[in-house]
Amino acid sequence: MPTASPQLDVLYTREQIAERVAAMGAEISRDYHGQHIILVGVLKGAAIFLSDLARAVVPDCTFDFVAVSSYGRGQRSSGAVKVIKDLDHSIEGRHVILVEDILDTGLTLTYLRNMLLHQKPASLKIAALLDKPARRLQKIEADYVGFTLPNLFVVGYGMDYAERYRNLQEIRLMSPNDPE
Ligand code: IMP
Repeated sequence: MPTASPQLDVLYTREQIAERVAAMGAEISRDYHGQHIILVGVLKGAAIFLSDLARAVVPDCTFDFVAVSSYGRGQRSSGAVKVIKDLDHSIEGRHVILVEDILDTGLTLTYLRNMLLHQKPASLKIAALLDKPARRLQKIEADYVGFTLPNLFVVGYGMDYAERYRNLQEIRLMSPNDPE
């Protein structure tokens, strides 16, 4: 199995990603000055983004993770959202930021947002590294967005195609003609 894929075109370089994540961290730091935040990452895609974002955030913060069923082995969503791993700790009365790699159809984040709101957090916001508004099936927006992109399938920086390419340092484009 290859560890790098130079054949996949780079959409965002390491430097571009670092710049946007730092800017998102600065915005969050301003908004939550003096408060404690719980960052809830959506596994596995948001793991790398969360680890960089957390280090760009100044206010005191803790982590939790949820995992949902995802794309499986293809580029298309099944539409079904199933929780595989729930929160470890209660978020009642806490300030929560749901951290996701991509806001695509919005099915996943709509489901997770409702699930978390059920626990009555003091506040709940969404940070998405990538936003693909053209693909939206549910009316949902992120409060913090890294990059807005058209209907393209991307991999790297935590994001996968059939579990591959998560360890690429850049965000790269996967076209339907690329080999699986
Ligand atoms: P949604 O429920 O359609 O918004 O799906 C969000 C999830 O789909 C993301 O967290 C990703 O796991 C996956 N996804 C959507 N687009 C892409 C992509 O371009 N590359 C990799 N995964 C994607």
